[in-house]
Order: sequence, then C-alpha cells, then structure tokens
Amino acid sequence: MLNVGIDIGGTKIAGGVVDPDGNILERRRVATPTDPSALAEAVAVMVADLTTTHDVHAVGVAAAGFIDATRSVILHAPNIDWVEEPLRSELEGRIGRPVTLENDANAAGWGEFRFGAGRDVDDMVMLTLGTGVGGAVIIGGRLLLGGNGTAAELGHIRFERGGRPCGCGQRGCLEQYASGRALQREAAEIADAGGIGAGLAAARDAEGIVPAAAMAALIEGGDAGALEAVSRVATALGEACGGIQSVLDPELFVIGGGVADLGERLLGPARTAFAAALPGYGQHPVASFAIATLGNDAGLIGVADLAGGRV
Ligand code: BGC
Ligand code: NA
Ligand code: ZN
Repeated sequence: MLNVGIDIGGTKIAGGVVDPDGNILERRRVATPTDPSALAEAVAVMVADLTTTHDVHAVGVAAAGFIDATRSVILHAPNIDWVEEPLRSELEGRIGRPVTLENDANAAGWGEFRFGAGRDVDDMVMLTLGTGVGGAVIIGGRLLLGGNGTAAELGHIRFERGGRPCGCGQRGCLEQYASGRALQREAAEIADAGGIGAGLAAARDAEGIVPAAAMAALIEGGDAGALEAVSRVATALGEACGGIQSVLDPELFVIGGGVADLGERLLGPARTAFAAALPGYGQHPVASFAIATLGNDAGLIGVADLAGGRV
C-alpha cells in the first residue's frame, strides 16, 4: 500500500509517494506560500499530482506547528502565518479524502524511528534544527502526543531566562539558540565583534547574513569564527539535551534538520556539553547521539507511515 506524505516547513513544502518500507517512489517540492489558503491549495495540487500516477491508500501531512488533540487544527505556528488554522478540514475539502495531520518534527522522529537512525531503539528523542527547532519523543515505541496534542515542543523549552525573543511570543526558547537562524545570528555577532570574526565579516551578503554555502566553506577551512558559531549552537543543543535526559531518559538523541549537515562537527561539542550538563556527572547513564539518516525526507516518510493508521 502506497501513501502520500507531505511535509510543510517554514520555507518549503516537500511531498512524495512512499511505500511501506519508507522508500520514496516519486517526489515534489515547492516554496511555502505565506497566505494560509494559498498554502492549502499548494498542498492539494501536490497531492492531486502525486495521486494521478500512483494508487494511493492514504494521505499524511506534517506541519510545523502546535496541533490540537484531535489532530485537526494548527493552534499556533511560530514560523508560519497560521492562527487556529483548521488545516485538516481545509485539506480534506480540497483533496476529497481523509488526511492524517501531524506535527512536522513528530513525523520526522517517527520516520527516523521506523526507518532511520532510531530503527534499533525503543526510546528516542529527535530534535530537528532548521528554521525552527522541533522535537519528537518516542517512548516504549510510541509517539508521545501529550494530553492536549502539543507534547514534544522541545524548541520552546526555556533555555535562557529573559533571553532572545521567540516567534512563539516567549523569550529564551531553545529555538533561538540552536536553530539554523540561531547559527546565522551567532555568526553575525561574532563577525560584528571583530577578531576571530574577520572571516565571517568578509563573507557577509548585502543583508548582513553569512550565506549557508559560505558558512560551510569557512567551517570546512577551519575558520575560528565559524567554528565558534558552531560551538555555541552545539553547546546549547547539548545542554538542553542534558535536561531532556533527566525527564525522558532516551537511549538515543537523533539530530536532524539543515544544521545537522554539520555532522560530527555539531555532535562532538554537543556530546561534551551534554555530559557536562547531566546531574550526577560521571555516574549518570549517557544517551547516544546520532545524525538523522533520512535527512530532509524524514518528515514526509514518517507522516506517510502514520497516515491512514498504517502503523
Ligand atoms: C514549532 C514546531 C515545529 C518546529 C520545527 C517550531 O518552531 O513550534 O511545531 O515542529 O518549529 O519546524
Ligand atoms: Na513535535
Ligand atoms: Zn519559543
């Protein structure tokens, strides 16, 4: 049985036809429209396109926001213009068949648990470091949804009291310290400070941002300022995981999203900060860290697997 999985992120919508083993048979990708009804229409068009050439059983949609307990309404989305958006009925009206709606990071975590880095564990936590920071918690082989549907919003854990303002309306959320945008912000701060920031300062574009490709090149070349930016993000990630370990005790943390392309350069300092942040330092059991193996496809594969109750 084939399912369609669609992953709506802050910048792009990715879709695909997925088989029961998590293989993507055909894929599509468009930029995320800012207007909510244009966005729903773009998803409907993508689904229609993918279902004309394949015999599809069910449709799953992953979206970057807080989803209500009935898995129907996006209550809030820190990085997309949705307020109490009845996305499931919007899509079902347009698509003409049932839609399974899930949080994007929950979907990605589920994909990694079923087919990726978490295949061999029962208890794992995933953090997706992209435009925002998403979370998924799988305990005893089950995806944690919470009493109101909004569990595992790990990007909005308070990381710093009175810290940077967040798209969710709070301050100091982990998302402001460990996302792709946070990496850019750290790079800009280091560039502004001079000294080791000289390489970053020279690489800035007209908007004052160090473009991802330039950042990657500086990191590859061992630029001290770029490595400092990575270290700040990795340290925030590791410290936050120390707190998560105290609550959930996963065997494994899976790190995904664009920032995870840094691989061991991210995981190395994250593991060090994690170990140092654990209570009972030295005696506390230590979880493993791994980079997501499904890359940007984890969400669409995971939500295709969840769709139509295929799990
Ligand atoms: C949102 C989450 C989402 C994550 C990744 C966060 O800002 O609150 O719902 O999973 O970004 O897209
Ligand atoms: Na989540
Ligand atoms: Zn927040």
